[in-house]
Amino acid sequence: RGVRRCEASLASDYTQASEVADLDWENLGFGLVQTDFMYITKCGPDGNFSEGEMVPFGPISLSPSSGVLNYGQGLFEGLKAYRKTDGPILLFRPEENALRMRIGAERMCMPAPTVEQFVDAVKQTVLANKRWVPPTGKGSLYIRPLLMGSGAVLGLAPAPEYTFIIFVSPVGNYFKEGLAPINLIVEDKFHRATPGGTGSVKTIGNYASVLLAQKIAKEKGYSDVLYLDAVHKKYLEEVSSCNIFVVKGDVISTPAVKGTILPGITRKSIIDVALSKGFQVEERLVSVEELLEADEVFCTGTAVVVSPVGSITYQGKRVEYAGNKGVGVVSQQLYTSLTSLQMGQEEDWMGWT
Ligand code: COI
Repeated sequence: RGVRRCEASLASDYTQASEVADLDWENLGFGLVQTDFMYITKCGPDGNFSEGEMVPFGPISLSPSSGVLNYGQGLFEGLKAYRKTDGPILLFRPEENALRMRIGAERMCMPAPTVEQFVDAVKQTVLANKRWVPPTGKGSLYIRPLLMGSGAVLGLAPAPEYTFIIFVSPVGNYFKEGLAPINLIVEDKFHRATPGGTGSVKTIGNYASVLLAQKIAKEKGYSDVLYLDAVHKKYLEEVSSCNIFVVKGDVISTPAVKGTILPGITRKSIIDVALSKGFQVEERLVSVEELLEADEVFCTGTAVVVSPVGSITYQGKRVEYAGNKGVGVVSQQLYTSLTSLQMGQEEDWMGWT
């Protein structure tokens, strides 16, 4: 249905994109919709990325012996662009993603683009694909920067060449529940990260390793998995693809990011928004008991935005929040404040877009 060859100077024999006209903007989920162009640049051992180029979205050529395929030397990022009512496209805090990629790259022994290069590449990619940015209120353009060891290795060592790619896809809600509350199960057998490991960086392997627990949870009807710390097995860490917050009265608590938890940019933004609304925010160890006694629970992430949690199941016991039907008042307030800023519906008093 509706495939199209790229034309003119960016023509390619193999790249095809679906047509914007075929997209059902009302029902965008979180699946890949191929767009027109992607950004690509490479660097050798000197660590300097050449000036990138925009090429048709499509397959890349990679040595079977590349560092990323053999030893998982790879990082990704996620950020979004929104279409403002009066036309312009807004990016939300792209410098934060650039910085996080640089920190992750150091941990993974990889060179990374400078903040300026990263942000410029994001802008170029969004502009080249601007017809795919959903109309206001219908979703966003998800931007996926990827950094990988593309050079060939055999013995265990950093790759001799790196590739930085950015592709995009229009997206709607991440969970199939849409904006309705999700149901989580607390995982006490598998762990996502351990102290000294790579839990705090966005390396690709962190996401492969949660797939099994997520699959088992989904088979049992849960939306996703909430991980506990690997040492005490009683403190909250994060959900497979997002951070977690617990509300009790006027206090909002979230696990402190100390090495095993991804420092989410939405997490950080929600903390600032909550503080500005007069909530007390605590970043600390949050126990599973506190979770079960909370008034409200919600998740944050670029993909999930702010997702209310309707129920938690822990060792066979199920606890429901806000009757598992509606969205809690605090989650709703924070969701509205954040998305108004992201979509430019409110003056950008934080300077984030
Ligand atoms: C994001 O929120 O951008 C993520 O990285 C989650 C991803 C696993 C979809």
